[in-house]
Amino acid sequence: MLTPPRLDLARLPTPLEPLDNLHARLGGPRIWVKRDDLTELGASGNKIRKLEFCLAEAKQQQATAIITCGGLQSNHCRATALLGAKLGFTVHLVLRGELEGAAEGNLMLDQLAGAVVHSYPVKQYQQDLGALLDRHADDLRSQGETPFIIPTGASDEIGVWGYVCAADELVCDFETYGLDVNNVVVATGSGGTQAGLTAGLHLHGSSAQVWGMAVCDDEHWFRNKVRTDLAAWQARYQMELDIDALNINVDDRYIGPGYAQATPEVFDTIKLVASTEGLVLDPVYTGKAFHGLLDQIGNGRFADDTDIVFVHTGGSFGLMAQSSQVAAALG
Ligand SMILES: Cc1ncc(COP(=O)(O)O)c(C=O)c1O
Repeated sequence: MLTPPRLDLARLPTPLEPLDNLHARLGGPRIWVKRDDLTELGASGNKIRKLEFCLAEAKQQQATAIITCGGLQSNHCRATALLGAKLGFTVHLVLRGELEGAAEGNLMLDQLAGAVVHSYPVKQYQQDLGALLDRHADDLRSQGETPFIIPTGASDEIGVWGYVCAADELVCDFETYGLDVNNVVVATGSGGTQAGLTAGLHLHGSSAQVWGMAVCDDEHWFRNKVRTDLAAWQARYQMELDIDALNINVDDRYIGPGYAQATPEVFDTIKLVASTEGLVLDPVYTGKAFHGLLDQIGNGRFADDTDIVFVHTGGSFGLMAQSSQVAAALG
């Protein structure tokens, strides 16, 4: 096994907390929340765990500039912009969609962090992302910079380490609280969090199943993405892992109308959790995933006497960017 370089950026370990008020109200299995929304403030959420490895690799390669990509409200781009500023990188963001009006939420933070934003119409972005990233890298090289490209969501063989290591933390949490956890639920947007957790828990010999609640693409796409990232990770770092022995569980029934579009039921769940637990979920990732979890509990999929872990992957700035949708949904 080869050990990757790592930077110390996130506030770890994050707490594991039971949602006792919700349990008193709904009954059923007990839900514990792994508070990865508390990994930092500006750079909060799941991406900082992956970026500890991706940005360390960039430093090792003596990069001066980071290029990454995502939606206009990408949590990953916001975390990269802020951490890049802290570490002295020039950050270029290739964003999907056209800028209009005053920047809010994540995009506002991208701009405050001094990231250079390049936005493209959705169709062009979807068709040409690879070429756009390469072109920006060439431009930066011609200006004397050394660019390092981090892919969507930092979900690649380097970023996978973030949640392989988070699985170590979870196994310690299970011991600390004497939990026998059979199910770990997480929002899946580019697959890297699910990939790392699945491999990490398996390497610990844990029987806990990781369930990725898809927020955009379907089950087939994510199973393939997780497998591909893990195969690349295994090859690069010479890991001993039988990928065929892994259960890659994806539930794509809660995507709703589309990426970043939540149904009124998801907003109701966000309100329920905020008003019973003081815990803030978002409509793009964690709200959808948690809504799916509650729906599955309601359908009797999990035994009442079990403990379930929900990994809270952050996203609160994305909620702030949907204030009108919140108002419309809640009336
Ligand atoms: C808040 C939040 N939760 C979950 C995810 C999904 O994580 P992953 O991209 O590793 O699947 C993302 C990003 O896509 C995110 O920003």
